[in-house]
Amino acid sequence: MTTTLAVAITLQALTVPQSVAQEPPAIAVIPRPAELRAAPGTFRLTAPIVVAHPAGAEAVRATATLLAEQLALLTGLDARAQIAAGASAPATISLRLDTREHAAGASERYELSIGPEGIVISSDDPAGTSRGGQTLVQIVMQHLPDRSTPHVPDKGAERPTAIELPSVVVRDQPRYRWRGMLLDCGRHFVPKELIKRYIDLLALHRMNVLHWHLTEDQGWRIEIKAYPRLTEIGAWRRATRDSEQPRDSQGRYGGFYTQDDVREVVAYAAERFITVVPEIEMPGHSQAALAAYPQFSCTGGPFEVQTAWGVEDDVYCAGNDETFQFLEAVLSEVIELFPSRYIHVGGDECPKQRWKQCDKCQARMKAEGLKDEHELQSYFIRRIERVLERRGRRLIGWDEILEGGLAPNATVQSWRGMDGAIAAARSGHDVISSPTSHCYLDYAQGKGAGEPTNMGFLPLERCYEFEPTPADLTPEQARHVLGLEGNMWTEHAPPDRLDWQLFPRLCALAEVSWAPKEVRDWAGFQQRLTVHLKRLERLGVRYYQPQPDAKRE
Ligand code: ACM
Ligand code: ZN
Repeated sequence: MTTTLAVAITLQALTVPQSVAQEPPAIAVIPRPAELRAAPGTFRLTAPIVVAHPAGAEAVRATATLLAEQLALLTGLDARAQIAAGASAPATISLRLDTREHAAGASERYELSIGPEGIVISSDDPAGTSRGGQTLVQIVMQHLPDRSTPHVPDKGAERPTAIELPSVVVRDQPRYRWRGMLLDCGRHFVPKELIKRYIDLLALHRMNVLHWHLTEDQGWRIEIKAYPRLTEIGAWRRATRDSEQPRDSQGRYGGFYTQDDVREVVAYAAERFITVVPEIEMPGHSQAALAAYPQFSCTGGPFEVQTAWGVEDDVYCAGNDETFQFLEAVLSEVIELFPSRYIHVGGDECPKQRWKQCDKCQARMKAEGLKDEHELQSYFIRRIERVLERRGRRLIGWDEILEGGLAPNATVQSWRGMDGAIAAARSGHDVISSPTSHCYLDYAQGKGAGEPTNMGFLPLERCYEFEPTPADLTPEQARHVLGLEGNMWTEHAPPDRLDWQLFPRLCALAEVSWAPKEVRDWAGFQQRLTVHLKRLERLGVRYYQPQPDAKRE
């Protein structure tokens, strides 16, 4: 044995977690389905793959088309979608909508059966057929020949002529209805095509919310027709680092999404039954907007789009009615673009210094009988909630919106631990759980070189251990916990770093948010993950390889 080989073997032994040494199961799906039973026999998937869908169900037709496209790309086999009744070719995969129960709403429940005669995915809900389709995609990917790399078909990949799938029956439905990922496009601009790729990856993991963080101190990213300077000025900053791209003709770093871009992303997500929830930050984290329109601050500025990371003192003036007119105009355009029932308005990390020194803010407090600046923040959020509710939308804010009194129908996203989640649920408000302790995917995940320093530490196992519903809630209060989000902040994660930060921790959070508590199992997850990482590799995801020593600091 040469020294190099010995070193390689030792390194490999060190990097494979011990509990993963056993064979992974023949069907290794992430997130783990509620129920999965192996059945006798196999099914040979051959060309042409025909995905049949019921006539008239538009959403299921779109799912059939997408599934056919995805399977063709992954397997190299011809695939097409067609209407089930009167079809000329027998179906390989039948998508069925059980309309008797359709009134039940978006359950996302599905049944997938693979047997010698074919594949059937049935659901009482179009979203369920899509979720079942992604479980099938994972099973197909697991059984592709090792050497085929169909995502790059012109690289001489081996194209299989048939793929042998084990028979199985999967009966599945999600534990939580909110299974999300936040993507911060303010600190770094994330190109539209990359956002679509993450939407595909969310869908593969049966997640259903993309929380699109669109405005920050360091960049305003969404075109607003009534206020063009938001993107002319606010979308660009003097570069933070020399390497940062893209730059404009003046050497500024940044970018923004046109309203057409936004519509395109929202439609792309909707076809995959993923809701895009926009976040327009206020009253804090708004320096990019104030650089464009300093009249909506307390001091009048001037400001520049922030180039350093942190929390800025200059925020929207809460005493100026024109600030609210501005925000109402912005939100009106946002509401037109996003069908989401929920609109996120931030509310976190808003220093109160400027408000304390501002005549208008102090006058507002006096006129409204507000006892301190926390109540002024509460006034701010309540006033914005009324704007949203007049248009039939619901407000979400970070847990700081609890301070000074919660807006009547607000949903609280708990990030500074779970106290905010508990307080909100106890007072009858809905909750999204995303504490730094388990959900901050910008944190370091190991000890290796290249990990972000001066950040928190969040190894894979800790993500997997997360319990989104605090134990001390009553069953009635617990119903307010809608689900979780993994938060991908990007101060230290430009676009080429995102895969590494997100995967495989997002796989763990996907399982936490989908799988019933009873089927969660860390050892089993690690085994399934060995299979799943190969899937991610085929898809070109540059994930982080979890290390066995990374459990605890
Ligand atoms: C946050 O991390 N400031 C919500
Ligand atoms: Zn003010």
